[in-house]
Amino acid sequence: MSHWIGTANHGFASLAMEELRRQINGIKFTQLIAGEVFKMEVPLSREEMLDLIQTNEPIFLRHIQPIDRALPIHGNADDLQALSELMRGARMRCEEGTTAIHLRRLDGTPFIYSAADTKAVLDAVIMELGGETTMQSPDQIFSIFAAAEELYVGWGTPSEQLSDWPGGAVRFQREEGQISRAKFKLLEAERAFKVYFETFREALDIGAAPGGWTHLLLERGLRVTAIDPAELHPTLAAYPRLTKMKKNASDVNFPANTFDLLVCDMSWSPMQMAKLVLEKTDALTDGATAIITIKLMHKKPLQTIRDVISKLETAFELKKAKQLFHNRDEITLYLVKR
Ligand SMILES: C[S@@+](CC[C@H](N)C(=O)[O-])C[C@H]1O[C@@H](n2cnc3c(N)ncnc32)[C@H](O)[C@@H]1O
Repeated sequence: MSHWIGTANHGFASLAMEELRRQINGIKFTQLIAGEVFKMEVPLSREEMLDLIQTNEPIFLRHIQPIDRALPIHGNADDLQALSELMRGARMRCEEGTTAIHLRRLDGTPFIYSAADTKAVLDAVIMELGGETTMQSPDQIFSIFAAAEELYVGWGTPSEQLSDWPGGAVRFQREEGQISRAKFKLLEAERAFKVYFETFREALDIGAAPGGWTHLLLERGLRVTAIDPAELHPTLAAYPRLTKMKKNASDVNFPANTFDLLVCDMSWSPMQMAKLVLEKTDALTDGATAIITIKLMHKKPLQTIRDVISKLETAFELKKAKQLFHNRDEITLYLVKR
């Protein structure tokens, strides 16, 4: 038996729980934050659970934290004292590599300390133990969830927790003159899927306007063909490596083997999108990468996703399907042309 905290994008916890229920017989859930964060009691050991999540990662599970200990909250300095004691008991862990402290708080939790205060105190303990602390790319994370009555505390690596951000909430700095928020989705996909765009040459962006994704690919040094009946942002005109096509994507054709990257963010009927992408596969080189968002319609999202994936699998191998933090009512697919 093991206990965990699972997190999904707001409003998607029920889908994450459904995916987990289908994989784990006898799993029990308790809500911590409506639609978003839940506690799990799992009839599997910690190792079995980690294995299962790693080999069959649920699309809607953004973050998972083990509950190694549950500490009662006193609402005063005793809480920091108890966390510090717990850390002192983990001296061996602290010596193993760099540690990050992540704190998440339920609204109204009696735990009175902010993430910064908690981190400052625990960082000092880690250093006193001869360990090293970090914010970025830690070897391990000491995660704390301050709930209504208890602090749920657990250790894990970023890969075990599915993210190196607290609760998987990836934050990017907004840039001046940023064309669209959509750019964050592609930035997050780049990291989450470890698809480094500068290693590609020639991209096709279907549904490109206003141009956030196109802009990122241009910044990464690619040549980009951007198709959209809507206007692209005027600042993109400065890039000579951009070819604009102000058209519906179903009305354009390209020579075979032209693009080694296809990105598509059309916010359109998922089955129509899949049909349109499949029409373009001849224009892709063998082994070309595709990053595609699937808009979730109100009816049966898991079924829609399965249907779209099996359609795309006639030409592509699915590498990963994930609801990224910056995805709203959609998920992102990472595929490679067969
Ligand atoms: C969510 S926006 C794309 C945002 C873009 N990724 C960005 O970073 O700015 C969706 C776009 O898809 C375009 N679109 C929808 N259907 C299309 C089609 N059949 N062919 C080309 N573009 C299409 C829409 O005009 C719209 O501009």
